[in-house]
Amino acid sequence: MTVGTESRIGKLLKDHSLSEDEYASLIAERTDEDAAVLKTEAVKQKEKIYGRDVFIRGLIEISNICVNDCYYCGIRRSNNASERYRLKADEIIECTDTGYELGFRTFVLQGGEDPYFDDEVLCSIIKKIKERHGDAAVTLSMGERSRSSYEKLFKAGADRYFLRHETADPVHYRKLHPHEMSFENRMRCLNDLRDIGYQTGCGFMVGSPYQTGKELAKDLKFVEKFKPDMCGIGPFIPHRDTPFSDRTAGSVELTLFLLSVLRIIYPPMLIPATTALGTLISDGRERGILSGANVVMPNLSPVSVRKKYELYDNKICTGEESAECRDCLSKKMLSIGHRIVTDRGDIKKYRKAEI
Ligand code: SAM
Ligand code: FES
Repeated sequence: MTVGTESRIGKLLKDHSLSEDEYASLIAERTDEDAAVLKTEAVKQKEKIYGRDVFIRGLIEISNICVNDCYYCGIRRSNNASERYRLKADEIIECTDTGYELGFRTFVLQGGEDPYFDDEVLCSIIKKIKERHGDAAVTLSMGERSRSSYEKLFKAGADRYFLRHETADPVHYRKLHPHEMSFENRMRCLNDLRDIGYQTGCGFMVGSPYQTGKELAKDLKFVEKFKPDMCGIGPFIPHRDTPFSDRTAGSVELTLFLLSVLRIIYPPMLIPATTALGTLISDGRERGILSGANVVMPNLSPVSVRKKYELYDNKICTGEESAECRDCLSKKMLSIGHRIVTDRGDIKKYRKAEI
């Protein structure tokens, strides 16, 4: 550990804040020793607020049809090799019924930006889920929509919205998305969601094409300022039928390092150990939890569609039934001294003095 990194880490622990340049240096000059110090502190802060409980979110991948063409994404509209599907309302409800029995108290409806799921359709599904499982939270991860759409969905009962910002650098954003998408609209969406009252989640890929420590520093600064309720990060993994097929996957080591930094930046944040992390390394999610994450997202989608929701190559958890996925993750968590809990898993706000 150099004097520079030591003082940066000290400042981060004390203030939960660094300048953008300091974040960039923290990343560029990191050593195994720095990672170990940050990991210990991240786990300490997490355990003060959440103990060793891990929240589960039942992920239901409701459609792989998308009007967008994000260069990194396996279900982008230009991928003609993707076999498209869309779940029916009844199938989605059935997934939540199964999930509820298995102890899930949060359902995440995620999908491409599929015009079929307009406000009317989505509101009716949200209402049905809430009627049947009133003590469960509904999280939406359905991409960019208008403010009035977000308002309607919130009124219908949606509790949380997860929309990764992808990158906090507008120039980098341009390199990952076609011209019809804009950084400004992404930010507008996140601000609207928060303003409407959703528990709001952002996030980014680690190692996405053209990303350097400078872009990551901007991401960290953005999270520090925005203070989202949730922040999802996972390594970028190439998909064979995208323009980024020949790019290298993100680093597991850097993802784990950033999970610890994020926990320290905003200790109560809900941070998933993602499937992408588990795809690159078999104990990726366990390592994620041990680096500061406190959420896992077992798959509740019907097995028949799981392989089709292929955002990147070799995605795991595509062959198992929901109960198997839950049990598998439960065992993984027990193996590292953590336990999955039956709980909505809302963010626990805290008083600063308690950290
Ligand atoms: N359409 C919604 C949206 O845009 O937020 C939700 C679905 S989108 C597929 C969910 C997330 O998958 C994206 O925010 C992105 O960060 C991640 N993702 C897409 N392609 C990926 C890849 N090749 N590697 C890792 N993560 C990827
Ligand atoms: Fe739409 Fe990925 S491009 S979900």
